[in-house]
Amino acid sequence: MTKLSNRVLEMEESVTLAAGARAKALKAQGRDILSLTLGEPDFVTPKNIQEAATRSIVDGSASFYTVASGLPELKAAVNTYMENFYGYSVAPNQVVAATGAKFILYAFFAAVINPGDEVIIPTPYWVSYADQIKMNEGVPVFVKATEENHFKVTAQQLEAARTDKTKVVLLNSPSNPTGMVYGHEELEAIGNWAVEHDILILADDIYGRLVYNGATFTPISSLSEAIRQQTIVVNGVAKAYSMTGWRVGFAVGDPEIIGAMSKIIGQTTSNLTTVAQYAAIEAFTGPQDAVETMRQAFEERLNTIYPLLNDVPGFEVVKPQGAFYLFPNVTKAMEMKGYTDVTAFTTAILEEVGVALVTGAGFGAPENVRLSYATDLDTLKEAVRRLHVFMEK
Ligand SMILES: Cc1ncc(COP(=O)(O)O)c(C=O)c1O
Repeated sequence: MTKLSNRVLEMEESVTLAAGARAKALKAQGRDILSLTLGEPDFVTPKNIQEAATRSIVDGSASFYTVASGLPELKAAVNTYMENFYGYSVAPNQVVAATGAKFILYAFFAAVINPGDEVIIPTPYWVSYADQIKMNEGVPVFVKATEENHFKVTAQQLEAARTDKTKVVLLNSPSNPTGMVYGHEELEAIGNWAVEHDILILADDIYGRLVYNGATFTPISSLSEAIRQQTIVVNGVAKAYSMTGWRVGFAVGDPEIIGAMSKIIGQTTSNLTTVAQYAAIEAFTGPQDAVETMRQAFEERLNTIYPLLNDVPGFEVVKPQGAFYLFPNVTKAMEMKGYTDVTAFTTAILEEVGVALVTGAGFGAPENVRLSYATDLDTLKEAVRRLHVFMEK
């Protein structure tokens, strides 16, 4: 008999981490593999942030625990961030930091979900949401964002999915995996719908700084006081500041929920690693030009690689406006090569031409694959060339 809990037996492994690990393992065997799997910028963390962290190690401040929700200086830095990029201020009891936005999300679900509570998730969706909700005995309710509607859901679709168990609606704009960005009016309609029905909005804004070609990021929490009160904002340093390894995430919102999340953090990880808190303070309050330099590099990659990918036989791509992913529909490509299952199709690409992509299956999109363009242009161009070779074989 298994010693494992039903909870973990029912859990899926993260498909993105699994695809990344498989690519690394093949590389270690000496295979020539180009990995476009992970959502991780290829830049080193900016120097001013490294130095602030180093200082906190050398002067001893990083040696100690902090309060569970984070250093007062970090909360002040988050307030600066909110004033600069959201246009409003937050009090210290509205802020909590933790080990990555991923754990912030987990703490949020643990704080608000009772068994059977429903969380509406627009699909395609980031891999971890559904499993985190299930781990907390909640029920993910999927609402399909169609390609025709640029991978966005409408308030009408959400209303059709609402029941008396609906507790939360999750929004991730710019989106992983589709890269789409919601506009002001679309968000206002969704926000007002959530307020009307007293449904919490979980706004995962982690890609908010990464928008391209004139697109703008509108934080739903900035639209009205009523919407703000209904929203928990999740954000972090990983994507915009190239700090995935530092594991810093934060949430901002209703003090009661933030307090509950802090209690969960206090009983699980105690606090976000102290040196990472000092790094985040510098990220939020120091010079921001490195963020813009990286954003421009992503924009150039997107604009170069998007037309090339669209040219691959059978690959159909909606041009994204943010994040750093392309999410082609490969229905035609699978037909041409005789595949009916996108995971098998992705594996064949890896085995035959050494390009690691992520199957859309884990994102609730069995007709798509995800490529991350958070890697250098030469690698991206070579990967697309190999996709041509694969399709033309
Ligand atoms: C949509 C989304 N939310 C949250 C996260 C988690 O970010 P972090 O690295 O801060 O845990 C990611 C990372 O891939 C993501 O893509």
